[in-house]
Amino acid sequence: MTKYSDIKKALDINIDKHLNDGFANLSHYWQNQENGASQYFKLRAEEYLDEFKPGVEDQLYISLKYDVPFPPPAKAKFKFIDLFAGIGGIRLAYQNLGGKCVFTSEWNNFAKKTYEANFGEVPFGDITQIKETNIPDHDILLAGFPCQPFSIAGVSKKNALGRKHGFLDETQGTLFFDIARILKHKRPPVFMLENVKNLRSHDKGNTFKVIQSTLDELGYNVHAEVLDGKYYVPQHRERIIIVGFRRDIFNNQETFKFPKYPVQKAKIKDILMEDPDGKYTLSDKLWNYLQDYANKHKAKGNGFGFGLTDLNGVSRTMSARYYKDGAEILIPQDGLNPRRLTPRECARLQGFPDKFIIPVSDNQAYRQFGNSVTVPLIQAVAGELIKELLKINGKHIK
Ligand SMILES: C[S@@+](CC[C@H](N)C(=O)[O-])C[C@H]1O[C@@H](n2cnc3c(N)ncnc32)[C@H](O)[C@@H]1O
Repeated sequence: MTKYSDIKKALDINIDKHLNDGFANLSHYWQNQENGASQYFKLRAEEYLDEFKPGVEDQLYISLKYDVPFPPPAKAKFKFIDLFAGIGGIRLAYQNLGGKCVFTSEWNNFAKKTYEANFGEVPFGDITQIKETNIPDHDILLAGFPCQPFSIAGVSKKNALGRKHGFLDETQGTLFFDIARILKHKRPPVFMLENVKNLRSHDKGNTFKVIQSTLDELGYNVHAEVLDGKYYVPQHRERIIIVGFRRDIFNNQETFKFPKYPVQKAKIKDILMEDPDGKYTLSDKLWNYLQDYANKHKAKGNGFGFGLTDLNGVSRTMSARYYKDGAEILIPQDGLNPRRLTPRECARLQGFPDKFIIPVSDNQAYRQFGNSVTVPLIQAVAGELIKELLKINGKHIK
């Protein structure tokens, strides 16, 4: 068996230049050689090899040993797709429970790079450009999608039923629509979507109503709950998780429950590195600025701007803008200005194991972990979801 890194070297695949759909096809083909999904990628994988290395098409069939930190499971219990994949936090959780990812999409090149380094697969790009017919069959659709407003105001179920078109059409032009059209065509037995807590109150509740109604119209029973990551990692992070079960398979009989929280015991001090580089300590200028800013707001009766973290407690929510000044999570230091977290500490704050490779700049890494998920929380939900999926006796598992 050839090592994945060796074949990339032999084919001279420089990852920075090969984050395109050609390599996405090839890597998806390789990853799926042992299941039927490879057919979806074969033709374009061959074309890609022929384009940049004519005459080596037989490399398509090489048997690969994945020397990445998170290789595909040898024997998969179920198959899933990973949309709006970011750096694969959701994938990690489902893969840990024996799932095989058969398709992924993410359009940001820096995120693709981190994804490939860890999972040995380059995600496909813009989901709006991907035909649902080109997506392999799967048991679970997973997506942490960006929240966008819908253009129509205050649709009620009654109104929608009276319309020529249902709710699906109301979501046209949004990224949720892409999830819905894939669900409509591929009909996986279950799905899990993740979003910010505010999705529920967005546009006076209209956005969430349209989402729920669309999923209902597509034939799924929907369960949704806001869950906090602080029971699994030392970070207060509330996110809405929406799961759905196909009614014609589960007959409304699913006994799915969101996981019970374990006792909260994670502390910030547990994720800190021993000797972080001095560059993470705030400069006098920035620290003075943050304090002045906070004082001004305090005087006006607003909350304070920065978050000096209690080392025995949990932090505020890390956002994708953490790279700007780190203000929301600052670590106090004796005799020094506070410091921001290192990218590795951010990874730990989201529950990523230390073997997770961070191949990008600090700024990109902060964005990536801030955009990602609390892996153990997602894994707890995944455990409950998979229990239900496996109850249908593989009847609908492809
Ligand atoms: C909230 S993040 C999801 C992060 C992910 N759950 C993780 O664990 O890293 C949403 C992601 O969707 C990606 N995205 C936005 N629009 C997209 C599109 N049209 N096609 C593909 N990816 C897109 C963004 O680049 C971003 O990484």
